[in-house]
Order: sequence, then structure tokens, then C-alpha cells
Amino acid sequence: MTIIFAHRGASRQRPENTMSAFKRAVEIGAEGIEIDVQLSKDGVPVVIHDRTLKRTTSGKGTVTQTSFEDLSKLDAGSWFSSNFKNECIPSLEEVLIWANQYPDLWLNIELKYYSEYDDQLAKTTIPLIKQLRSEKNTIISSFEHQRLLDVHKLWSKLETAPLYKGNLNEPCKYAKKLKAKALHPQYKLVTESQIKSIHSHGVKIRPYTVNEEKWIRKFLDWEVDGLMTDVPDLALNIMHNK
Ligand code: G3P
Ligand code: CA
Repeated sequence: MTIIFAHRGASRQRPENTMSAFKRAVEIGAEGIEIDVQLSKDGVPVVIHDRTLKRTTSGKGTVTQTSFEDLSKLDAGSWFSSNFKNECIPSLEEVLIWANQYPDLWLNIELKYYSEYDDQLAKTTIPLIKQLRSEKNTIISSFEHQRLLDVHKLWSKLETAPLYKGNLNEPCKYAKKLKAKALHPQYKLVTESQIKSIHSHGVKIRPYTVNEEKWIRKFLDWEVDGLMTDVPDLALNIMHNK
């Protein structure tokens, strides 16, 4: 069964990484949501993709140079459409509390390592997740693979997954080294035989970010464990009409 993850929420229909994008993803029927997490200047985990505030908010500078109070005042929706001018940057805590009303909803929480606060990112976010959520249907992913070992030390039951572009040499051995139960590759180089081999080692695979119909169809046929997509409505439609 392939879990469809709405990448940054329903990010084609709502401003990415906002509560409105997450609520829309659930309305569409997505079984999972992918979010990006970094720390504010005062160490609060917040949900936003870029290192800087410019593209998706009314602010300037970087996320980690801005206090949580100031981040909370920013408009995180107008860049997308004036209908969303009241959207703010959510805290991770807000998203976790909201997600608790959907016990089966998967959360793929990507830790974004951009800054001087990097050492605090796992130490701050993992205890919060542990406090507000069980390990069920929860994934921590990251491009910073060694950091996944920090996550594993903090909560060994939690599923972790390295994000990567291109091909890995012996991907399952690599996952084992990182104590990761899944692999999250960029989708373009993934083949059916790789998926079969990864599955034969008991490792899960969830490609990102799959937006084209032909690739969505391929990955559903090849029975990946999940896929990240900006078009969860299309992916669900294809899946339910197969
Ligand atoms: O889940 C993978 C994907 O989110 C990684 O890329 O840049 O969209 O965070 P990015
Ligand atoms: Ca991401």
C-alpha cells in the first residue's frame, strides 16, 4: 500500500507549510503530510522550508535569526494569494497537536539543517514529538544523514530516512549504517529493480517529489511504500481508479 504524502501540505492549492495547506491535504484525503522544520532564534521548532523568509513570508533575514514571537507575526500566505493573508508560520507543536485528531495520519518531518543552531535541532524537536505523538506513522527525514543517528539516539523506535539525490552505492547497507528503516530518494533515478532489491532487505522506499502522472502511475505499480507529491489529489485519483 502506497501512502500519498502531501508535500509541504496541499502546496499547489494553499500556501506551503501552513495550517491551511495541512487541513486541505486531509480534506483531499491524503494519508500523509510532509513538513519542513527548523529552529527560530530562541529555539522554537517552526514549519517553513527556506532558510530565508523572503520567498514565503512578509519577513526578511533568516528563520534562525528571528525570534518565534516575530516569526509568528509574519504573513505566510499573501505571497501565494491575497486570500491567505492571515496564514502564519506554524510551530511544530501546533501541527502536532492538530494532527492528533487524525490518529492514522502519517507525518514525514524533514529536519532542515541550515544554520548555527543545527546541534539543537534534533535535541529540541525529537523530545517534543515524543511528548505529543507516538512513533506510529511518524518519520524523520533529512539530507544530513549523520544527523539521523542523533535522532536514533534520542528515540530509537522512531523511523528515520535519509533524503538523497542520485544513486547510492549499496543503499540498504547504507540505511543500516544510519539505523534508518527507509530511503527517500529523488524520484528520477529510481527503478523497479532497485525498489524490489530494497524491499527484499526489509527497507522501505518513498521517492520525492513525484508530480507527473506517468511517474505516479509507475511508482504505484512498483508498490513503493509512499511518495511525496505536490499533487496529492491527482495521485489519490489515480490510485483509487486503478
Ligand atoms: O521529502 C523530500 C523533499 O521535501 C525534499 O526536498 O527541498 O522540498 O524539502 P525539499
Ligand atoms: Ca521537505
